[in-house]
Amino acid sequence: MIIIITGTPATGKTRISNELAKALDRKTGKKFKVLHINTEILRRGLWSSVDKKRKSKNVDMRKLNKFVSEQVKDNQDLIIESHLAHYFKGDVVFVLRANIGELRKRMENRGWNGGKIEENLEAERLNVILGEALDIHGKKCIEIDTYRKTPKSVARTMFRHVERLR
Ligand SMILES: Nc1ncnc2c1ncn2[C@@H]1O[C@H](COP(=O)(O)OP(=O)(O)OP(=O)(O)O)[C@@H](O)[C@H]1O
Ligand SMILES: [Mg+2]
Repeated sequence: MIIIITGTPATGKTRISNELAKALDRKTGKKFKVLHINTEILRRGLWSSVDKKRKSKNVDMRKLNKFVSEQVKDNQDLIIESHLAHYFKGDVVFVLRANIGELRKRMENRGWNGGKIEENLEAERLNVILGEALDIHGKKCIEIDTYRKTPKSVARTMFRHVERLR
């Protein structure tokens, strides 16, 4: 099974994906590999240029597609997490949502500049990732509100959805 976890930056994808993998292991004995796409992009140089204004990398989607295809071939059970994860095939697509004030605090803690913060908060307000995910995956999408929930409790909710699909 391939589980996709997407959402605006800082909504908790990385933390929650690790919690979900732990819950799946504990409750079903299945070991899901977690593919942290953003980490892999940097580690494997899957980018083509640097965006100076945003202080980020422009992803080389051809290289990234190739890398993800190889992982899918090698792993039966996979969690793919990133704000780009919904560009890949999956059996279920979780779109994490978070409170705007909370997101702003997390982005400030990361030392992001004002422009980058506002751009990302605007994307969350306008449901950009949810809209993209719905266009690509339709009914496979499940929107998950993380407001005032711990990563563990969000992972438990996601686990219950996954159980229904198995
Ligand atoms: N449910 C939560 N409650 C409180 N804090 C959280 C929650 N989820 C994540 N956090 C905290 O918010 C910050 C961002 O989380 P995380 O790095 O998992 O987000 P992300 O969606 O993976 O971001 P990015 O897209 O930039 O990789 C971290 O400091 C994390 O510990
Ligand atoms: Mg992350």
